[in-house]
Amino acid sequence: MSDKLWAGRFTQPTDAFVEEFTASINFDQRMYRYDILGSITHARMLARQDIIPGNDAEKIVEGLNEILAEIEAGRFEFSVAREDIHMNIEARLIEKVGPVGGKLHTARSRNDQVALDIRLYLRDEIDAIAQALNKLQGALLTQAEANLDVIMPGYTHLQTAQPVLFAHHMLAYVEMLARDAGRLHDLRSRLNLLPLGAGALAGTTFNIDREWVAEQLGFAGVTRNSLDTVSDRDFGIEFCSFAATLMMHLSRLSEELIIWSSADFAFIELSDGFCTGSSIMPQKKNPDVPELVRGKTGRVYGNLISLLTLMKSLPLAYNKDMQEDKEPLFDTIDTVRGSLKVFAEMIAEMQVNAAQMRLAAGRGFSTATDIADYLVRKGLPFRNAHEVVGKTVRYCVENKKDIPDLTLEEFRSFSEDIDADIFDYVTLEASVNARKATGGTAREAVEKEISLARKALEG
Ligand code: ARG
Repeated sequence: MSDKLWAGRFTQPTDAFVEEFTASINFDQRMYRYDILGSITHARMLARQDIIPGNDAEKIVEGLNEILAEIEAGRFEFSVAREDIHMNIEARLIEKVGPVGGKLHTARSRNDQVALDIRLYLRDEIDAIAQALNKLQGALLTQAEANLDVIMPGYTHLQTAQPVLFAHHMLAYVEMLARDAGRLHDLRSRLNLLPLGAGALAGTTFNIDREWVAEQLGFAGVTRNSLDTVSDRDFGIEFCSFAATLMMHLSRLSEELIIWSSADFAFIELSDGFCTGSSIMPQKKNPDVPELVRGKTGRVYGNLISLLTLMKSLPLAYNKDMQEDKEPLFDTIDTVRGSLKVFAEMIAEMQVNAAQMRLAAGRGFSTATDIADYLVRKGLPFRNAHEVVGKTVRYCVENKKDIPDLTLEEFRSFSEDIDADIFDYVTLEASVNARKATGGTAREAVEKEISLARKALEG
């Protein structure tokens, strides 16, 4: 028998280079476990429905389990001539159990089989990624809890704007990742339907029980149109879109960690295990991990565009083009898993330099808005208050003073509405703690959000 399970209608062998060129075994072998799980379940269903004898199904299941063991032990020889993971396993099964193995592919096509394998594989990866996301959120939250007193400058345009709690800044990322986790959860529910039974494209002539197979494999239901089922890769695209957004978030955090760990900022120190040195400049400690994650964001965006472009304009139903779906998807999974893992560990070990952050928060007239708000409470329209404080700041700049250094007389030269209690409003703590509305940076507001986030993470 030829290595090709489909060789029947051919008279000449495949060109050797074409064989290599069209094969996917080098990358789709990572789905072996799901291919075997799907086949075992399919074989059992065929027997339950009296489509093949029970004895035959048992032999098939036994053979498949042996193949699983061979692969896990590294004893399985993957063959390019057998093209892909599906035919590598099926051909080996027939080798092992004889012609009975040839009954496995009854009422099935590689087109619905590959759709099943990707869904099963991706579903498990999604669950692992959800856990890794949760872990990173936990690390950010722990940093927030451990540094509740730390005040840092909040920025707009990367210019000092208003003081904020470092914990508040960490919670911003917890919030972003919570939305990412929500997107992952949503796309999982759309993916979690059984494609098997669509056959090559039109369905099958056999009396199969798709609902039973779905239940066995933990699917919430079955797909409802065979043409769509074998040509749908939306779930992969949705996953890559989730991943692109997540990586965008991680790249923003990366950028901040890189800036914060520079000698000029010195807000944080990343532990040595996450940095490298320079081969020429002995003083250097480079934040390689956040830099790499920032860089890897590009390839994940690229993978999303690859998949969208791959699927664009494909006529129904299956087209061989779709074999190209796997590498971008697998690369995205690997990149996201690696990035989340390394980030969770790096954030957990990150040292926060509270004194340095506080020093920076005090610079740049970060409490100027608080004086304006003070004047508004005295009855001045906000625009007038803004003008008064603008002049005050200019005076400070010209006289090299900071806002809390001004005397009451100096303050009053800008507005008669300013009284001695102004000094209670222009400290960093007062500025931060005045912002009590839900979602603000006041300590009590932040503590509330931390406990809500903790509950959400553990729930
Ligand atoms: N290796 C193929 C893929 O990944 C499996 C499906 C092949 N189906 C076919 N009719 N050639 O898409």
